Amino acid sequence: MEVRHRVDQTRRYAFGRGADERHAARTAEILRGRGADEDLVLAGLLHDVAKPAETRLWHRIAAVLLEPLPALHGRLARGEGVFARYLDHPRRGAEEARRRGASARVVALIARHHERPRTDAERALHEADREAVP
Ligand SMILES: [Fe+2]
Ligand SMILES: [Fe+2]
Repeated sequence: MEVRHRVDQTRRYAFGRGADERHAARTAEILRGRGADEDLVLAGLLHDVAKPAETRLWHRIAAVLLEPLPALHGRLARGEGVFARYLDHPRRGAEEARRRGASARVVALIARHHERPRTDAERALHEADREAVP
């Protein structure tokens, strides 16, 4: 059920120029509308900043299907290919946010945004991310 929902969402926002930018802006907007603090809004805006521009629909669907297989996911996330960079986008995005001067909290939220949420802030980002279909 969860996987089907994610694949549907992925298919809906995978098409069209600027879909990733709209997704990021929408995620931040949802969080702001729920009274999130500035760190959380910024994490919403930057969470997918490291997704490769060349990402294809199959990369997105394959990534959702790999979520229950962390060992294989980890192995395929190594390297500089588009799929590897896509799978590794939370870690790479966290690094990018750190380079841009984001706080440690923002960096950690981005790094964990595809992990099972452990805090209220992580849960809020996770939910806004899922709901933010441009
Ligand atoms: Fe993401
Ligand atoms: Fe996202």
